Amino acid sequence: MSTCPIDNRVIRPIRFVAGQCQMLDQRLLPAEEVWHSYTTCQEVAEAIRTMVVRGAPAIGVAAAIGVWFGVRDIDTESSWEFYQELEKICAILLATRPTAVNLSWALERMKHFAESNLDRSVPELKIGLEYEALAITQEDEKINRQMGKHGEPLLADGARILTHCNAGALATAAYGTALGVIRAAVEAGKKISVIADETRPFLQGGRLTAWELQKDKIPVTLICDNMAGALMSKGEIDCVIVGADRIAANGDVANKIGTYTLAVLAKEHNIPFYVAAPISTIDLSLNDGSLIPIEQRDEREITHIKNIQLAPEGISVRNPAFDITPHRLVTAIITENGVVEDDYLTGLSQIIKPT
Ligand code: MRU
Repeated sequence: MSTCPIDNRVIRPIRFVAGQCQMLDQRLLPAEEVWHSYTTCQEVAEAIRTMVVRGAPAIGVAAAIGVWFGVRDIDTESSWEFYQELEKICAILLATRPTAVNLSWALERMKHFAESNLDRSVPELKIGLEYEALAITQEDEKINRQMGKHGEPLLADGARILTHCNAGALATAAYGTALGVIRAAVEAGKKISVIADETRPFLQGGRLTAWELQKDKIPVTLICDNMAGALMSKGEIDCVIVGADRIAANGDVANKIGTYTLAVLAKEHNIPFYVAAPISTIDLSLNDGSLIPIEQRDEREITHIKNIQLAPEGISVRNPAFDITPHRLVTAIITENGVVEDDYLTGLSQIIKPT
């Protein structure tokens, strides 16, 4: 197995140690930092489904690693049979979480590699897919740093920035998307402070964003989700920046539930609302956000915290994990290829393939 060079100062939720793939269990942070080892496609699929690993780019990376592990066990000398088995492996991984398009983007890239190399032997295809999975992992960090460079000029020195969920290093291979832009602004010497929404019910803001910004010594203040409006009305928020799980062709954005509420509030208070996402998050096959599948999660996430019951037994519960922010509420979309404003329909399709 190949290994990635490891810089221990950089937060990476997926790492390769002594020939083993390990993932940081994000369900247990910040109380415990537990790493699990993975060797099979089924184990990786379960890690994605149960949110050991989460965040759109990170589950794309994990899915590619799942394909690499899955194909290692395919026992055939026929490249065509190998490809058919590969499709079954991809189907297992695809079924884990529906909203973040980075997952299917990574699976399509792995399938495309195999499909365009069917003249190679099966051992060669297996090695090629290992390299492809590692390339997806390494490219993700580069993409995020590039996104940071493009987005950082939008953040003023002294800005107090509200973010929702975790679009940080933990949601990617490293560095982050929305938090990557914030990191880039800090690296450019700007005095930045972050207000992190707690992000009920899974608490990605309170547990993960707070943890990773504190670790990187970036000033961060935690609030409950229902406090954002009050802070905006008092002039305490200069801009909002979030990540995305899928962006439709017209610029409508699927992101963690509660993002839409923030965008409406930001509009009311004339506060810029930025979305930072790699082009692998843009899904030009969907005309608008109403076509994006929204994951519905277990009601227990709302009625309980660990084993503590918070709501009456038998209560009716809704738990959509994501919402859609209409493009008219989005000030700009920051990608690794540049920033798109206003005419998203034209701008997004152009930025996917820069001239
Ligand atoms: O349910 P999650 O934790 O996977 O949701 C994550 C988000 O909604 C993030 O904001 C999004 O994936 C962007 S991460 C760079």
